[in-house]
Amino acid sequence: MIAPRLLAELHAMFSADRVATDADSLTRYGLDWTRYYQPAPSAVVFPQTVDEVVAVVQWANREQVALVPSGGRTGLSGGAVARQGEVVVSFDCMKTISDFDPVARTVRCQAGVITETLQQFAAEQGLYYPVDFASRGSSQIGGNIATNAGGIKVVRYGMTREWVAGLTVVTGKGEVLRLNNGLAKNNTGYDLRHLFVGSEGTLGFIVDATLKLARQPAELGVMVLAVPQLTDIMKLFHAFRERIDLNAFEFFSEKAMRHVLARGHVKRPFEGEADYYVLLEFEKLAADTEEVALAVFEACAEQGWLVDGVLSQSEQQAKDLWRLREDISESITPYKPYKNDIAVTVSRVPAFVERLDAILSREYPDFEVLWYGHIGDGNLHINILKPDALELDDFRRACEQVNKHVFSLVGEFCGSMSAEHGVGLLKRDYLDVTRSVEEIALMRAIKVVFDPNGVMNPGKLL
Ligand code: MLT
Ligand code: ZN
Repeated sequence: MIAPRLLAELHAMFSADRVATDADSLTRYGLDWTRYYQPAPSAVVFPQTVDEVVAVVQWANREQVALVPSGGRTGLSGGAVARQGEVVVSFDCMKTISDFDPVARTVRCQAGVITETLQQFAAEQGLYYPVDFASRGSSQIGGNIATNAGGIKVVRYGMTREWVAGLTVVTGKGEVLRLNNGLAKNNTGYDLRHLFVGSEGTLGFIVDATLKLARQPAELGVMVLAVPQLTDIMKLFHAFRERIDLNAFEFFSEKAMRHVLARGHVKRPFEGEADYYVLLEFEKLAADTEEVALAVFEACAEQGWLVDGVLSQSEQQAKDLWRLREDISESITPYKPYKNDIAVTVSRVPAFVERLDAILSREYPDFEVLWYGHIGDGNLHINILKPDALELDDFRRACEQVNKHVFSLVGEFCGSMSAEHGVGLLKRDYLDVTRSVEEIALMRAIKVVFDPNGVMNPGKLL
């Protein structure tokens, strides 16, 4: 914990209501959705301006205090966890949306703007912010950028990085950098903006961003398909993609869906059961798009790649179908799942899945393993649920053993050991599965340039 003198200095820097040291705030702001760590920050501060962020970073450098950035705290890799007396810098008081430019189709957001608020703002202007995921109601733009958040529409719109046209950051030295200024073209050397996207708060704090917006999509059709063989899913992907542009191509297992159904908010989509389901979404751009989708459905059924399915007939039905996929994460939270978020090149998914499935059934015979994810991006979420009988620490240790097998396969396939959840604390020790020794050395060298005193989110990522 930091010394009382330092706490007094924080109080002098921020008004009384913008420094929190009560137990509730320390627990709430010291933890993200990764449930493996004991939060123990010294204090939480709530800057309102860039100058206040600069002041706290400069103070941290002077006093050698570690800072942890805090957005919506919906991360799943422990990137926003404070457990060693750090000072948490929350962006909850920086929520302004400004500088909407309808011609450039950009808008400026402070770091604390909630994803859903931005999506609503864009819709009110007749536009669309397409980066989307189940935690849209809590996650914040600064955190999304710091983790390069992905989500459910990446197959069509890409990750957060694609939408960042400008960034204001406060580096670990306390310098303010205004990067790229919303420009569409700017070939003037290294694009430092992209270093900060996905840097997990280790180089500096994102304080605001100029984000691109897209045109609003036409009416959307959502299909859920029952698929007996996991490896046939990619045949479906190929068949549908040949005929229509997909906005989303997700999958989940029957076991995963049962956890959602058990909560009683949505019903089983049709009678046919299979081990796996695909959820796909498309824009009804042409008068016959729906007809084409149904024709592909029939052709795939004839091949035996799917055994049942449904196409949404209303916006409400589309939303309910999406809940079958989107509610999985929340419905399994009580089981303290150990999460893996791996990816391989999409064409190698079937081969990878067959090998991984064999490993999991061999190594996890007693664990409930759930498969779901953004399979159209080659991104699989493999969740192992904690058995009641096992203590959390023992469970985690067991999962780390199995990870060795899983990650050795990921390495063999030149895949990613964290496709969209980031590295944080949870996956830090596996960075070399995906990054070479040389790359990691360069990453460390870059960290020193921007954060020479190591005050920015220490221990995360590297
Ligand atoms: C999802 O795809 O549902 C999210 O990444 C959260 C999760 O993996 O549980
Ligand atoms: Zn995901």
